[in-house]
Amino acid sequence: MFLTRLIYASKVAADVNRDDLDQIIESACKNNAELGVTGALVFSNKYFLQVLEGGRSEVNTVYHKILADKRHYEPTLLDYSEISQRMFHEWEMKLFLETNINRKTNIKYFSQENFDPYEISGKTAAKLLQDITSKDHMEK
Ligand SMILES: Cc1cc2nc3c(=O)[nH]c(=O)nc-3n(C[C@H](O)[C@H](O)[C@H](O)COP(=O)(O)O)c2cc1C
Repeated sequence: MFLTRLIYASKVAADVNRDDLDQIIESACKNNAELGVTGALVFSNKYFLQVLEGGRSEVNTVYHKILADKRHYEPTLLDYSEISQRMFHEWEMKLFLETNINRKTNIKYFSQENFDPYEISGKTAAKLLQDITSKDHMEK
């Protein structure tokens, strides 16, 4: 099955709290492991930005489930590509908090320094996610 990468942005529902995030990651890790899907999820108070990688049908299965989730709204597909190898293969799913993104990274990708994934292209979103999830990001 073709390896694919899917990246989307969405807006966080008003009542989402830390417990919701923990619960999302817990079920994501369990389900994604069963499907061979890997990726990362960035949370800011306003937005989610998520990347999913895996087989085409598995990534689509997970994405359709996510679309129906009331903990976010206006999910918008930023990128859907066939890939020859994964870039986000370390975690079934891992949460990254926007509060930990260093200022320089936001300046690099956003015109106003504010994390707004609706403002960037799919290709840029992939690079931003690569930066955020890189091991040395927090030390920069
Ligand atoms: C922003 C966001 C990201 C999510 N990411 C995943 C994911 O990567 N994998 C997954 O299975 N569920 C994910 N979920 C949760 C699903 O929407 C759904 O609640 C879950 O898959 C149901 O799992 P269960 O059938 O095991 O209870 C996410 C939800 C939100 C709001």
